[in-house]
Amino acid sequence: MKQDVMPKVSLIGAGPGSKDLITVRGLGVLKTADVILYDALVSEELLAEVSPTIPKIYVGKRCSQHSFTQDDINILIVENAYRYGHVVRLKGGDPFVFGRAHEEIEYVESFGIPVTVVPGISSALAVPSSQGIPMTRRGVSSSFWVMTATKRDGSFSDDLKYASQSSTTMVILMGVRKLEAIVQEVSKYRGSYTPIALIQNGTKKNESCTISTLQGMQEASLDIDKTKPGIIVIGNVVAEHPSFFEEEVQRVLHSAL
Ligand SMILES: C[S@@+](CC[C@H](N)C(=O)[O-])C[C@H]1O[C@@H](n2cnc3c(N)ncnc32)[C@H](O)[C@@H]1O
Repeated sequence: MKQDVMPKVSLIGAGPGSKDLITVRGLGVLKTADVILYDALVSEELLAEVSPTIPKIYVGKRCSQHSFTQDDINILIVENAYRYGHVVRLKGGDPFVFGRAHEEIEYVESFGIPVTVVPGISSALAVPSSQGIPMTRRGVSSSFWVMTATKRDGSFSDDLKYASQSSTTMVILMGVRKLEAIVQEVSKYRGSYTPIALIQNGTKKNESCTISTLQGMQEASLDIDKTKPGIIVIGNVVAEHPSFFEEEVQRVLHSAL
C-alpha cells in the first residue's frame, strides 16, 4: 500500500443499461473513482464517461466470458482499495436487487474499510417501464412481485407458485434460459391467455421485446436468443403494451394458415 492511499469503497447502482439512467449522485461518485470494478450488465458507454487513465476491471459472471466467483470479487475489491484508494464497485441496476451487495459490504468492512452505497434504478422497474408496461394499474393489478424463478438447485421457487396463484404482476429476473418451463409452470395456475412479455437488453440500443400470451410464448420462444439477459413480465398489465393485440392477432392468423 502507498503511504498516501486512503482505502474506501463506493457501491454504485449503474441503472438498467442505458448510460443516462444512472443517478446524478451515482455519476458524480463514479467520476471520483481511483479504480472501477464493474459487472457484465454495466454499459461500456457509461464507463467511457470516466477518464481513460482510471483502471477499469471487469469482474462479471456471464457464462461466455472468464467468470469470477463471489470470493474472487470480494478479494479484488479489498486488494484494489489498498492499492489505489477509492474503489467504485459498479453493479447493474440497484446493488441490493439480486446483487449480492451485502456479501461484498460485509467482507470489505471486515478489513475496516468504509463502504458507502449509492442506490440505482433497478431493471426490474425500469425495463418494463421503458416498454410502456405499467407494473400496477387501477382495476388491473394492485401489486407487483419481483422474483427469480428458480432456487440454487434449479427447481422452481415457492414464490413463483404463490405469485402465479394471485393476480399480482410477476416480474421474473434471470429466467430467460428457463422461459418455456416458467411458462408451463405459470400456465398451471393462470389462464393460457394471460399476457406475457420478455424484454432483453432493456433500455439499451439493442433492446428487444417479445409480447404474447402464455400459450403463444411457447412458440415465440423458439426464436429467442436465450443467451441475452432479459426480464419476463406476466400479468394482465402486459396487455397495455402498444403491440399486444396486434402481435396476438398476427400469431393467430399465422397459425391458421
Ligand atoms: C443478477 S440480476 C441483477 C439485477 C440488478 N441488480 C437490477 O437491479 O437490475 C441480473 C438480471 O437482471 C435482469 N436485467 C438486468 N438488466 C437488464 C436489462 N437491461 N434488460 C433485461 N434484463 C435485465 C436480467 O434478468 C438479468 O439476468
